[in-house]
Amino acid sequence: MDLHTAYPGIADLKLRARRRLPRFVWEYLESGTGAEITLKRNRTALDEVKFLPSILHGPIECDTGIQFLGQDYPLPFGTAPIGMSGLIWPDAEKLLARAAAEAGLPYTLSTVASQSPEDLAPHIGQNAWFQLYPPKDPDIRIDILNRARSAGFSTLVLTVDVPVASRRERQVRSGLTNPPRLTPQLLAQIALCPTWAIGMARNGMPRMRTLDKYIDGQSALPPTAHVGYLLRTSPDMDYVKWLRDAWDGPFVVKGVMRADDAERLQQTGVDAIWVSNHGGRQFDGAPASIEMLPQLRAATNLPLIFDSGIEGGLDVLRALALGADFVMLGRGFLYGLSALGAPGPAHVIDILRQDMAANMGQLGLPNLQNITSVIRKVDAAMQRV
Ligand code: FNR
Repeated sequence: MDLHTAYPGIADLKLRARRRLPRFVWEYLESGTGAEITLKRNRTALDEVKFLPSILHGPIECDTGIQFLGQDYPLPFGTAPIGMSGLIWPDAEKLLARAAAEAGLPYTLSTVASQSPEDLAPHIGQNAWFQLYPPKDPDIRIDILNRARSAGFSTLVLTVDVPVASRRERQVRSGLTNPPRLTPQLLAQIALCPTWAIGMARNGMPRMRTLDKYIDGQSALPPTAHVGYLLRTSPDMDYVKWLRDAWDGPFVVKGVMRADDAERLQQTGVDAIWVSNHGGRQFDGAPASIEMLPQLRAATNLPLIFDSGIEGGLDVLRALALGADFVMLGRGFLYGLSALGAPGPAHVIDILRQDMAANMGQLGLPNLQNITSVIRKVDAAMQRV
């Protein structure tokens, strides 16, 4: 059956994903922090971004291509880093990386993914990005950068919005521990999801493979220390400057919500800023990322990447119109993968592509070049109404 008939939107994939994942896995993927106000706000604030349709343009062929950080992309979006994605779906990292490479789009591998840069090297294209949770130990830091570079990752992303671990109450209620332990509660949930269970049985319990070598006694870690000890150092501007000098490719800082931080970061020589509230997973008192985007756009002329709550092509256009140069999705791609397995991520890309083209037609936009002016026209026209 045609996938577009069975699953016309990301909402359909989300429904099916929920049915196919054990509860603790679904809760890991879906949960925000606290009462999940910021998570919900990401959605409601996106819905508030309005355009006025524009008529009488004759036939429109929509070109969804874009240039970003010196690369041509057929579409203006890619895959955000998801830690332990191999727990969400077996072989998630390889399947997501392959789908992105086939579509010519970027895929971002997390430091705490369940596969390492070396595992992924045969599966990535020209646009693989590596996301770093800042290790404390400078030797480990240098080693991870070298590994990412040798495996073919071109762009480095430093995530800065996890100065401390966040509290996710939904996740705790579901019985998920860190590292995951197979309790009777979890086994009962797994028994209801045979496809997931068979895939996991084949692959074994996922772990953070990038960090394996540092916990095998080769690092200065005390033997009792948990692997998370290597992470969670709270970076400062000196750390950013150090990384800027250590990485010779494009360097992005992820998790920026304030204009003054964007200004400070611009002075360190970063190549792009990733506007994000981590999909509402870190701090429940934050505005929606989309609410902050115009201020960040005004504060810096650096390229801006945007994520948090994107669920369709119209959302992608909303972010671009408010000043983003590129857009990322986290959960959206995992819904596709968990719903459909290997063909899922490509279907997500196709849904977004079709939705973008349909909405660009409504706006009389043949390409994405002047999209920011569309929103300014709306503001002016709405004031006249
Ligand atoms: C994340 N995110 C994340 N970010 C990061 O820099 N490193 C990581 O390891 C992770 N891990 C992670 C796990 C899960 C399950 C989720 C849902 C998210 C945040 C992610 O990269 C991105 O910022 C958000 O997911 C964007 O919001 P949406 O698209 O999920 O709404």
